[in-house]
Amino acid sequence: MLKETLEHGRQLTDAALDRLIPLETQHPESIHKAMRHSVFAGGKRLRPVLCMEAGRMVAGSLPARIEELGAALEMLHTYSLIHDDLPALDNDDLRRGRPTCHKAFGEAIAILAGDALQTQAYEVLARLKCPAEARVRIIEEIARGTGTVDGMIGGQVVDLEAEHTQPTAEMLEYIHRSKTAALITASLVSGGLFAGAKENQVAKLRAFGLAIGLAFQIVDDVLDVTQTSEQLGKTAGKDTASEKATYPALFGIDASVRKADALVNEAFAELGSFGEPAEPLKELARFLVERKK
Ligand code: IPE
Ligand code: IPE
Ligand code: MG
Ligand code: MG
Ligand code: MG
Repeated sequence: MLKETLEHGRQLTDAALDRLIPLETQHPESIHKAMRHSVFAGGKRLRPVLCMEAGRMVAGSLPARIEELGAALEMLHTYSLIHDDLPALDNDDLRRGRPTCHKAFGEAIAILAGDALQTQAYEVLARLKCPAEARVRIIEEIARGTGTVDGMIGGQVVDLEAEHTQPTAEMLEYIHRSKTAALITASLVSGGLFAGAKENQVAKLRAFGLAIGLAFQIVDDVLDVTQTSEQLGKTAGKDTASEKATYPALFGIDASVRKADALVNEAFAELGSFGEPAEPLKELARFLVERKK
């Protein structure tokens, strides 16, 4: 069931991404090659899958063309990874098992490829096949989730500024909620909105997203310590080397794993009123903390 959800979601997302991102042969070729290099490098596609399953839960079946919303979320996520890896940010050479975008195409094209994936995402969002009112709310939700106030960019700023410091638990939670949980939350909420969710359903998806999003980043921190670069497809041990503010650095591995587990259990409670249709999202939440990459 989980395997099928992930595999089917990945296939739908990849097909949509392939349709929506200009071909490598499109002028100017270098930017389209760089965008595709990073997008089609074997990401887990978790944000699109969470979005689609939120839509399925609300509507009762998978809403037609929701994968285009998933693809836009994956473009935004990939943009954040390309920029996260730049020498001025985390300075990483390996991503999704491939040389990072700037290693393969140079810094200038990598910066522009990130920018381009962001603008491409909003073009796709503007054309979503859902009622106009829902479309506008989706765009606002995603823009806010990736923005500077409690959003992805804000989290990235504090993540960088917290390097080589002794962060408080509150600061660490702010970083993780903003840099990672905000986009995961926007993925779930936007999937719900696409499917016509009512306000109380949106609120539950939001609470679920904030909890599993924080758990997701705690696990990302743990895997950086416990896995190899080969397993992760990105450089392991990087957080310790850069003296990053992470959960294992502040609380140790065991307490971090327990915290992630507890968050997922809290998240489950948010979906209680959806009953049986919430099962795929719950399975996905469990997978987020049990994953090995
Ligand atoms: C990695 O995200 C960056 C974080 C926000 C922790 P993923 O673990 O979802 O990376 P991909 O998309 O599978 O490569
Ligand atoms: C990245 O966090 C968060 C975003 C890209 C917004 P990390 O820096 O921990 O992600 P990885 O470990 O490089 O994938
Ligand atoms: Mg980073
Ligand atoms: Mg990084
Ligand atoms: Mg990390």
